[in-house]
Amino acid sequence: MSALDRNAKIAVIGAGAMGAGIAQVAAQAGHSVLLLDNRPGAAAQAIDGIDRQLGKRVEKGKLAADERGEIVARLHAVEAIETLADCTLIIEAIVENLEVKRALFKQLESLCRADCILASNTSSLSITSIAAGLQRPERLLGLHFFNPAPVMPLVEIVSGLASDPALAQTLFDTAKAWGKQPVHTRSTPGFIVNRVARPFYAESLRLLQEGAADCATLDALMREAGGFAMGAFELTDLIGHDVNYAVTCSVFDAYYGDSRFQPSLIQKELVDAGRFGRKSGRGFYDYSEGAQRPQPQQISSDASFDSCVVEGDLGVLNDLLPRLKTSVIKRDGKGLLRVGDAVLALSDGRMASQRAKEDGLRNLILIDLAFDYASAKRIAISCSAGISADAREQGIALLQSARLQVSLLSDTPGLAVLRTVAMLANEAADTVLHDVASAADIDLAMRAGVNYPQGPLAWAERIGLAQISQVLDHLQASYGEERYRPSLLLRRKVAEGSTFHDQP
Ligand code: NAI
Repeated sequence: MSALDRNAKIAVIGAGAMGAGIAQVAAQAGHSVLLLDNRPGAAAQAIDGIDRQLGKRVEKGKLAADERGEIVARLHAVEAIETLADCTLIIEAIVENLEVKRALFKQLESLCRADCILASNTSSLSITSIAAGLQRPERLLGLHFFNPAPVMPLVEIVSGLASDPALAQTLFDTAKAWGKQPVHTRSTPGFIVNRVARPFYAESLRLLQEGAADCATLDALMREAGGFAMGAFELTDLIGHDVNYAVTCSVFDAYYGDSRFQPSLIQKELVDAGRFGRKSGRGFYDYSEGAQRPQPQQISSDASFDSCVVEGDLGVLNDLLPRLKTSVIKRDGKGLLRVGDAVLALSDGRMASQRAKEDGLRNLILIDLAFDYASAKRIAISCSAGISADAREQGIALLQSARLQVSLLSDTPGLAVLRTVAMLANEAADTVLHDVASAADIDLAMRAGVNYPQGPLAWAERIGLAQISQVLDHLQASYGEERYRPSLLLRRKVAEGSTFHDQP
């Protein structure tokens, strides 16, 4: 372990949302912390705010009153940058502007000890370019906390081209000693989380744009089938569309316009209209007083059926079978579930009508992915064109017998949860391929940084990498777009019959 000693003095520059949170984390870990902001009084105000937050924890019995006093006593508001001269680690959390950050670090280098570690909390700027021009670029790294820093466990330890690997390890061990879950990553646009998470927003935005379903239905599917804490529309309303759209644009530009990161015109419209989400009172949803939250769309059926037939292996969909309130007859076949006139199957990324035609199936109902079919509350389906009313009703009734709310989407390739998870896994695979981070760290980052129910690579492995690759192939064929091309590493894993977690 090379974690910094508790006696090491830490400085945080920028006493806004992130700086104050980071200062609190370091003080809670026992360090003396100097907090500096160029707005007079801002650092002292931030410490008052931390004191109030800790006070609430004392009231709830989660923190001892004397501990609160000790933490606050370790926080010192300072006004002059020269007072940081003897700090061991200086963490910058000022305005997101490359020139302003560069100028600050140049100034720090001229007044601090030669062995001081410089860290930036930037979420979108290159650590390599912030460090360029410094006398000791090897001593500058990214230390990327998530908001709110005292609560969110993830910290990305970002190495630029010149960063010293030993210092990356020191920051990793220090973050761990502070009770965080650090991961190593190379300085590339979006690092891990802000890159791998892009399809979570992008696929829902696409589905909305194409009229597959409305916001409330897609959000409910992500929560109640996908196991995510929030759907993309309620989450971006919370983050703020100005912020979320700016991150998407910056990642898109940084990857030279790769269509995988293409921003959405629907979101741009919201930004243009000043509908930033909760903070402006309106985004995808209306937050004004008395506004009614739209309800997710669902369909029901009172059709009756005697039994259902399972042909072959349904893969992850097998977990649904114990919930069906009917007898299940098993036969050989190609992974189909039959009830009455209806044929049900897990989506493979093709549209229902296309699959019905290509595979010679009539009355086809495609079922979306659920994180856990044994406990999901809702599921999306789509139907092939010309499906008989009886077959549709029987298929819906079968799913309802498992106490699932059924939401009908238009005939869309990959439905909602499946295509989102396939694209998350695909981005994660490319992130491994480009040596930005390890598969294990990417999965950990997506759980600890944005609360995904499972890391996208482990999730894809559970479904089957061959299935995920096939879903992407079908999406690419349907849309004719590069955006859905499977990662070379995903294809390689499928060809090898290996997994991401086989790696040493
Ligand atoms: P903020 O606007 O809440 O706070 C920035 C603070 O820095 C302000 O108090 C401002 O007065 C001060 N400041 C600006 N220029 C300064 C300078 N030259 N010297 C000293 N103080 C200066 O911003 P926030 O949200 O705390 O973000 C700070 C950094 O953290 C940015 O780089 C941002 O990209 C990054 N970040 C933000 C996250 C978020 O969710 N807000 C998450 C992770 C990283």
